[in-house]
Amino acid sequence: MRDAGRVVLVTGGAGGIGAAVAARFHAAGWTVRLTDLEDRALETVATGLSGTEWHAADLRSPAACRDVVAWAVAGAGRLDALVNVAGVWREGPTAETTEADFDVVFDVNVKALYFMSSAAIPHLRETRGLIVNLSSDAGVQGNTGAALYCASKGAVSLFSKALALELAPEGIRVNAVCPGDVASPMLRFQAEQYGGGDPEAYYARLLAGYPQGPGRARFVTPAEVASLIEYLARPEAAPITGATISIDFGYSAGK
Ligand SMILES: NC(=O)c1ccc[n+]([C@@H]2O[C@H](COP(=O)([O-])OP(=O)(O)OC[C@H]3O[C@@H](n4cnc5c(N)ncnc54)[C@H](O)[C@@H]3O)[C@@H](O)[C@H]2O)c1
Repeated sequence: MRDAGRVVLVTGGAGGIGAAVAARFHAAGWTVRLTDLEDRALETVATGLSGTEWHAADLRSPAACRDVVAWAVAGAGRLDALVNVAGVWREGPTAETTEADFDVVFDVNVKALYFMSSAAIPHLRETRGLIVNLSSDAGVQGNTGAALYCASKGAVSLFSKALALELAPEGIRVNAVCPGDVASPMLRFQAEQYGGGDPEAYYARLLAGYPQGPGRARFVTPAEVASLIEYLARPEAAPITGATISIDFGYSAGK
């Protein structure tokens, strides 16, 4: 129990990566606070993670972000880490993008993450804490057919760097992790929504882009992403701030 007493707040806590982050920090002895859209999904994740509490919220407004941070700090007494995991995927030609799709992608992937960070900063000052943001390989390089999602994750990557510079004098670290395709409900949504009725062909198309080659490439697991994030919260990660860290089998390394 390395980190007894430290408190982490995880957004997107009912999703694939968020649930894995919750489990990983809990196993390391952290007190875990979770938020996502629905009570029931959060309760399922928290079951078995003793002491874990949750609060359902739609984070697409600064007021909701402030409420969630206030709830976490009121209950747990402090905040040492914020992990911004909540996110949505949309793909398709830019010429056909609707305003509704634009708004949901930017409101969840950028605005919620920004105002969660903003609300957390006063509390992280007291603990010299840290923020980890979920960016993506799409926040490192262009992805054909996903310009809107790339625009949002590019924003996450550079926001994380700029915020790291802003908060370094106060001892707060900020990093972005950039996974390739992760075996999670989001990936299933992508394949089902955009796979033209053939999710397996969609997965195969994605894996064909990996440098390991046919038969060897696989998707990253949520547990692998969670392990990297928990490492970033350890004292030995003290020099790591302002980084965008790829965890993608080399997918974004070049061609
Ligand atoms: N799955 C991947 O391949 C992949 C790859 C790179 C980066 N990412 C990023 O990792 C993060 C987590 O992805 P995941 O794979 O766990 O996806 P997921 O769909 O399993 O989880 C995302 C969670 O965000 C929540 N969420 C969505 N809108 C919300 C809102 N308005 N308010 C509060 N919560 C909201 C969802 O309910 C969901 O539980 C996202 O930011 C995603 O963009 C995912």
